[in-house]
Amino acid sequence: MNDEFTKSILKSMEYERQRQAPPEEFPKFPTIPAGRYTDDKFFKLENEYLWAKSWLYVCHLDEIPETGSYLLWEKTGTPIILLRDENRKVKAYYNSCRHRGGPLINEQKGKLEGRLICKYHGWCYALNGELSLVRDKRDFIALNQKDLSLKSIKCERLGNWVFINEDPDAASLIDYLQPLPQHLVQFQPENLRLVDSRTYQVDCNVKVLLDAFFEVYHLTVVHKDTVDRFLDHRGTVIKLWENGHSVMITPNRNPEWTDPGTIGMPVIESVTQIPAEHNMSFNMFPNLVTPMAGTGMPFLTFWPKTKSSMEIDCHWFAPEGSEEGFSELWETRINNFERILEEDLQFASQLQNSVESPAFDGLNLNYQERRIYHWHEELDRRIGPDRIAEEMRVEPLLKNYLSE
Ligand code: FES
Ligand SMILES: [Fe+2]
Repeated sequence: MNDEFTKSILKSMEYERQRQAPPEEFPKFPTIPAGRYTDDKFFKLENEYLWAKSWLYVCHLDEIPETGSYLLWEKTGTPIILLRDENRKVKAYYNSCRHRGGPLINEQKGKLEGRLICKYHGWCYALNGELSLVRDKRDFIALNQKDLSLKSIKCERLGNWVFINEDPDAASLIDYLQPLPQHLVQFQPENLRLVDSRTYQVDCNVKVLLDAFFEVYHLTVVHKDTVDRFLDHRGTVIKLWENGHSVMITPNRNPEWTDPGTIGMPVIESVTQIPAEHNMSFNMFPNLVTPMAGTGMPFLTFWPKTKSSMEIDCHWFAPEGSEEGFSELWETRINNFERILEEDLQFASQLQNSVESPAFDGLNLNYQERRIYHWHEELDRRIGPDRIAEEMRVEPLLKNYLSE
């Protein structure tokens, strides 16, 4: 990110603070139908066309450090193996044997001794997925081992962060994420280490919680004793990008202010003024939210379980050296973060009950909540509007408001 970007964001913050209304001609949003949060059919469409066809963050290289290291990943309900092959390249396979579907892996993580062995009848696969051994081969007629490799899944990296996409026709990760990667370079993603990972269970539709991370309109109420004391939501600058991605930059009330939870932590020197002095949070569509900071950042990933329950993962990354031993500094920082997260989670099940009640028609969004509308527009493009009942669709309105 260059000086020009910094200057333009600072100027936009001033504009946002002073405006008396949304920009002229900005559209009024139609109500986002409630059924998108409650309907069984819609939930199925999301599973089929969104979650099974998107680039999704799965792990950091530190979690599978060497040849044979693996983890079992089941966040979308489909069991997937992530492992390092003989060349230490990361590979993703379905955890499903080509004989009768037995599992190759049944532990959450571990290290393989050179091959995967099916837990059912013992077929063996090399780390590159090839079927290398069939027991009692004499009993199979014309078995073509070459055609029975493990089914693989697209798996690519951004720095040390690993993503998968179950759609074999998906564009490459880097193309898909544009223009986001160029904003992340300053954080030196290839030097970031995994510090901590935790998961929180929440009783609401995944979008109920995601929506809260796309706007700062709730700060003054939900976070009045925490985040609202240091962030000025009225100066928030938003950029909407292709493919549903976006960024939200919320100014610190005082740019000199430093998060007390980060004092004493190593700082990534190349981080520029905007993320160093303000709050910059990206959304990599669909479910990755990243409030970035020079001392490291969490990756928040949001996963649907049922249409009214979900889980949120929080993975913390920091520059080399920060992760050694889990220091008191990190404990304090994560505790502070959890206090804010609890504020966001406190009404989740009540919100869900309300959304499911006959009183609720849908979401009536304002200008500063436009990232939510942008997200829903993209969801319909992914599913294909023709597959969605007419009364459940979201009208595309934001095409002319996308940034480069
Ligand atoms: S199911 Fe894997 S060897 Fe039979
Ligand atoms: Fe919040």
